Amino acid sequence: MTIKIFRNFSEIATLASAHHKNGRRLNPDDLGLIKNGSIVFDHEKILWVGEDRNIPEDFLNKGHAEIDVTGKVCLPEIVDSHTHLVFGGDRAHEYTMRLNGASYEDIAAAGGGILNSMKGTQNLTRKDLLKLGQQRVKTIHSYGVGTIEVKSGYGLSFDKEYELSHVIHDLKNIVRPEVQIINTFMAAHAVPKSFNSSYEYMKEVVLPLLDKLGEEQILDCVDIFHEENYFSHDDVVSLFERAKRWNINVKIHADEFNDNKGAILAVKHEALSADHLLRTTEDGISALANSNTVATLLPGTGLFLGKSQANARAMLNSGVKVAIASDFNPGSCHCDNLILIASIAAPIYELNQTELWCAITLNAAHAVGLKNQGAIVEGLKPRFSVFNTDSIDRITYNWGKNLAH
Ligand code: NIG
Ligand code: FE
Repeated sequence: MTIKIFRNFSEIATLASAHHKNGRRLNPDDLGLIKNGSIVFDHEKILWVGEDRNIPEDFLNKGHAEIDVTGKVCLPEIVDSHTHLVFGGDRAHEYTMRLNGASYEDIAAAGGGILNSMKGTQNLTRKDLLKLGQQRVKTIHSYGVGTIEVKSGYGLSFDKEYELSHVIHDLKNIVRPEVQIINTFMAAHAVPKSFNSSYEYMKEVVLPLLDKLGEEQILDCVDIFHEENYFSHDDVVSLFERAKRWNINVKIHADEFNDNKGAILAVKHEALSADHLLRTTEDGISALANSNTVATLLPGTGLFLGKSQANARAMLNSGVKVAIASDFNPGSCHCDNLILIASIAAPIYELNQTELWCAITLNAAHAVGLKNQGAIVEGLKPRFSVFNTDSIDRITYNWGKNLAH
């Protein structure tokens, strides 16, 4: 068992008390800041954390590797819990169309949107897609993000979606253990024009493919776009029931353009997370508050599409567990920089500093089913993000500047 010691961080934000409060109702003090702090860990777990001057004698002068981290800041690992990073082509022209007055829904109805990226993705081979995926993961990792959830969903045929889930699986094996990938199956992202209804597409493509991939045991989660003109309440139920049969966690794109009670549906099915929630109202918020389903907010998407933001303050005040993710994708948020997005979102959402960091560490880890990380406390996994600055304040203050180590 190799033990390592990080000695003398300028600051460690442990989030210990946020962890004890299970990521809810957080005050600024729950950040658990330690100055001149050290961490003792082996490859599996954190063994000790505290001020450097208090390191227990047992760990010193035993020949353990000691790494001097003076002048740096340590946080629990940053987790991007919602991305769609496997896609071909881009939709720059759609961004311009929106600037010039068209809405996301208008563009989708005219054949743009997700179906546009479907063509761009179908034009690429499995090898091309893996290469692009690797480049994108490398960039995201360079910002200090160590766990990335990746959704399929731009193939939209049995064969191409099968390929995409395997591209994500390959990616996962290539980048581990430095980067953890969560493989999310989202063939229920849009209904291709060759199908008469979402029901028909579910029956012919999504459900049989989930059975095949379930058998292969390569999926971590399933997700679905529950929205008018995309997938219905019944489609969600059929997907979630099938996923349960395979013991796969469920997630949902909910209440993005309309309050279609997606948050309530998520809670009913014990989803890991309900994501977007721009239109969620009181009943959805109270369902989330009384559940373990994480509300994953995607502020970059509201900004990119010019939509009003989720009611984060009402959620937090009610005791909802809130995460923030990038939603990196070609159409509704072409930004892969989670720390930039969270820094911009914090004043819009009126977050305190602990709520901000907890939303992209502890609660984001819970949103992808990882309960053994997200805080720097004894017994949890030694997954950290380290920054080249002596103060945690500077990380979110310097919008868009990459301070990751
Ligand atoms: O999370 N809302 C559905 N899916 C993506 C958008 C994908 C796209 O426009 O390509 C999202 O915003
Ligand atoms: Fe999304």
